[in-house]
Amino acid sequence: MKQRKKDLGYLILTALREENGYVSGEDLARRLNITRQGLWRHIGKLESSGYQIAAVPHLGYQLLSSPDKLLPYEIQYKLNTKFIGGDIHYYEDIGSTQDAAWQLGLADCAQGTLVVSEQQRKGRGRLKRKWFAPAGGIYFSLILRPKFILLDEVAPITLLAALACIYALKKTVDLNYSLKWPNDILLGGKKIGGILCEIDAEQDKINFIVLGVGINVNSRSLPPPATSLFLAAKKTICRAELIKRILEEIEILYRRAEQEKFSFVLRQWQKFCPLWGRRVKVKILDHEIEGQALGIDEKGHLLLRKEGGIVERVSAGDVTPLPS
Ligand code: BTN
Repeated sequence: MKQRKKDLGYLILTALREENGYVSGEDLARRLNITRQGLWRHIGKLESSGYQIAAVPHLGYQLLSSPDKLLPYEIQYKLNTKFIGGDIHYYEDIGSTQDAAWQLGLADCAQGTLVVSEQQRKGRGRLKRKWFAPAGGIYFSLILRPKFILLDEVAPITLLAALACIYALKKTVDLNYSLKWPNDILLGGKKIGGILCEIDAEQDKINFIVLGVGINVNSRSLPPPATSLFLAAKKTICRAELIKRILEEIEILYRRAEQEKFSFVLRQWQKFCPLWGRRVKVKILDHEIEGQALGIDEKGHLLLRKEGGIVERVSAGDVTPLPS
């Protein structure tokens, strides 16, 4: 299902949502400049997507309930963004939202286009790892076309997305989340979300980025070492509200980065990472290095002080804290 902002279904739902009681079919049809049969057909489509709508002769229509789905109408309602989520491609089930988004990127889709799925059969993480993506989580891929950075300046985009998730999570359930370089979102030391940034570039010019975000929201059982908001907060979370917040936070940080690059993101990101000063081991492809984690540099690379005092800048790897 592809959804562009403000189609008839969206306008009908908005009218129903903003009315406490019944909305007269005659008035609504007139306002939307459609026939009453047309309105009735659209109401039928909304019902088949899971919206419960009462229709009472002489009174009109009333929205009784909305489905607990990440349907475009749910995401776009009161979404406070300028470009993110203008176009949403929605799936009940997909291999990976990254692949669908990649195809859209190649087909010149607008910046801010979003691919979202209720679940994924072949969700993937960094380094081609599997990303377990059962129903109840948030899984989306966002297409960005940054003009303000070159390929070797792209790493902070992952940090930006992770920071946006932390801000949105804290506004939803205020727990003690932390970040682990380069792309993990943790809660109580367990993974609750991750970011995957895939890039189409020529030489050093970026054509587009597919920014993938996965958050374990209402999942009840997950392979260790992972957790979900439900498991931690012991309550079911409204995913539509959370995804809206994440998108809004990404847009705020992204627009700021367009103006002043990533200094703000890098500063804030570091505040949520508890590793600084600690001895860590970093696995880089087939070898490991050890040292003291000092922070991240202006490119988002990890600064590691090795024995002898030499500071190495690490651009990719898996970090494990060592016993102190
Ligand atoms: C990681 O932790 O290594 C990154 C996980 C990223 C998962 C998201 S879910 C939406 C998008 N589609 C995917 O297949 N992966 C990303």
